Amino acid sequence: MSEFVTVAKVGSIPEGEGATFTLGDRLVAVFNHNGKYSAIDDLCPHMGASLGAGQVDDEGKVSCPWHAWRFDICDGTWCDNPTLKIDAYEVRVVGDEIQVAKIESKPQD
Ligand code: FES
Repeated sequence: MSEFVTVAKVGSIPEGEGATFTLGDRLVAVFNHNGKYSAIDDLCPHMGASLGAGQVDDEGKVSCPWHAWRFDICDGTWCDNPTLKIDAYEVRVVGDEIQVAKIESKPQD
């Protein structure tokens, strides 16, 4: 079962932007896109830039601030090669708190 952790207050992440938070031993980028929050790994797999500092476009893709690789902010898909993904996280709002949890991987058969 996922364990949600409060990372920020509603309203602290401006519309169309992201912010970076620590979740256990991970850095997580949380985005506000059209009033909906989503979260993916913060570290760009290319050279480690912070995706939370990237620009989010109208389609919900964030561009890495260093070399403009683009990722879907909902599921972590790399736009240039959709077979590759970085981790995505569950996000919920409880009261005025934004909470994030690691998506549990399903056990292998
Ligand atoms: S570090 Fe992100 S595209 Fe290069």
